[in-house]
Amino acid sequence: MSQDDLKLSVARAALKYVPEGKIIGVGTGSTANFFIDELAHIKDRITGAVASSQATGKRLASPGIRVYELNDVDDIPVYIDGADEITGSGAMIKGGGGALTREKIVASIAERFICIADESKLVDQLGHFPLPVEVLAIAHRPVAKKLADIGGVPRLRLKDGKPFVTDNGNLILDVSGLRIADPITLEEKINNVPGVVTVGLFARRGADICLLGSPEGVRTLKFDK
Ligand code: 5RP
Repeated sequence: MSQDDLKLSVARAALKYVPEGKIIGVGTGSTANFFIDELAHIKDRITGAVASSQATGKRLASPGIRVYELNDVDDIPVYIDGADEITGSGAMIKGGGGALTREKIVASIAERFICIADESKLVDQLGHFPLPVEVLAIAHRPVAKKLADIGGVPRLRLKDGKPFVTDNGNLILDVSGLRIADPITLEEKINNVPGVVTVGLFARRGADICLLGSPEGVRTLKFDK
């Protein structure tokens, strides 16, 4: 079974968490893309979706799913998205696709966060995947210095040899070398660095459920809050 087969299996499994007649939150990335393609088959059962990125908005709109802005909704019953890493207690690193800020906002208004991932994403401790931090362009150097002070090795994310620019017009530092024993404390600490827009640690508001794809089938991990 390929990694794409595993992603497709969790995307299909997530459909049972989609409530009828509601606006749902939809994430960004290759696993979320599989989910959007599955959602298109049942699009008439939902009112629409809030997208965590421009790319997701376009992919949702293409089969005719109505896309709502964040400012159009107060809360949503469910947010379905992938992760770069997830622990056995539901804390995640996200932002490999650069959509971490909107992902965090959509997660914050969701009653339930359903993470969909293949089994390679399950880790004992976060930090092997470089931690994405969205920063204001005017402050990427001072922020990088602070991140180095706490033991990280920050690198400005590039695309085609130029700084990668997020949907919000900001830059991303990918921070390697962090051994994240206490994700909630580190999330708060990095969020408090002036110039940081969002850190890609989703620990204070982690996943409620993770659908984890493996060759043996889809496992459902539930996390107590
Ligand atoms: C995008 C994300 C994605 O959820 C994360 O990068 C996982 O992506 P994929 O499903 O392609 O492995 O946080 O910002």
